[in-house]
Amino acid sequence: SGGRATAVAHPNIALIKYWGKRDEHLILPRADSLSMTLDLFPTTTRVHLDPEAGHDEVTLNGRPAEGEALRRVVAFLNLVRKRAGLASKAVVASENTVPTGAGLASSASGFAALAVAAAAAYGLGLDATALSRLARRGSGSAARSLFGGFAVWHAGTDSGTALQADLSSYAEPVPVSDIDPALVIAVVDAGPKTIPSRAAMRRTVETSPLYEPWAVSSGDDLRLMRAALLAGDFETVGEITERNALGMHATMLAARPAVRYLSPATLTVLDRVLRLREDGVPAYATMDAGPNVKVLCRRADAERVAEAVRDAAPSGSVLVAKAGPGARLLPGS
Ligand code: DP6
Repeated sequence: SGGRATAVAHPNIALIKYWGKRDEHLILPRADSLSMTLDLFPTTTRVHLDPEAGHDEVTLNGRPAEGEALRRVVAFLNLVRKRAGLASKAVVASENTVPTGAGLASSASGFAALAVAAAAAYGLGLDATALSRLARRGSGSAARSLFGGFAVWHAGTDSGTALQADLSSYAEPVPVSDIDPALVIAVVDAGPKTIPSRAAMRRTVETSPLYEPWAVSSGDDLRLMRAALLAGDFETVGEITERNALGMHATMLAARPAVRYLSPATLTVLDRVLRLREDGVPAYATMDAGPNVKVLCRRADAERVAEAVRDAAPSGSVLVAKAGPGARLLPGS
């Protein structure tokens, strides 16, 4: 690779959520999760090695990274360097196309693109499974963005050594019958900045009495979801998606102190989704670490769903995403 590589990755939205780690250092989750990779908002990341440099140089959308963002990228590069047996520092330039204020996390696409580009630049020669494991170490949800369409991230096992546990937790594509899905993203007012998801996750696991039951039922959700995806049973996929997300938010609300990401506008959108279903449109909501609502529906219904939620999204911003591609290296980069 000549010590340089460029990769592209897209964000993913979990239908069965990842919320809670059993190992914070290795980023091993408590439960399996399942997502759809989007066709919107790619992150493009270029990495090149600089043997002369005394430190890594990281820019995000043209600005030098600092604080926690820089610390996480440097820690990730240290991991790659250790595996490669190389000491060279790197120049990393990442361009993220998520519109500012859209409230869509970019850590999944960001670390998926960084994993692919850094592994190539440092000459690691990893396959997709190994890249998924590596991306996981940057941000758990990034493990799933290695793959297009639907992906499941295995929690893995704890029966052996730390290395065996690490090897057992990766994402892979999920077999799906053609359900022609879309995710309508209703961007609602972000309101005051709330607690970052990593800290919120920890607090939920440590203090919420609802956490264990949710984690257990999420395992059942995942098994039923896989069967419904394979059967092309869209309504069941949607029902499981919505209940799994509401259950996750219930565990957060029961944390001490409560973690609340849902806003009044979120609930207004949820009402619209319910009304759509009453009108016979299969539409189901899911929310992550913020107030925005992603509505799972069929592609053929996406415009109608977008119209139904538009005035409930105070910013007026409604986006329609379809299933997108996995992370990839740009040739000749
Ligand atoms: C609510 O993957 O951002 O989006 O592993 O701490 O980096 P870290 O967390 P992250 O958490 C994503 C949480 C979620 C649900 C999901 O994507 O599964």
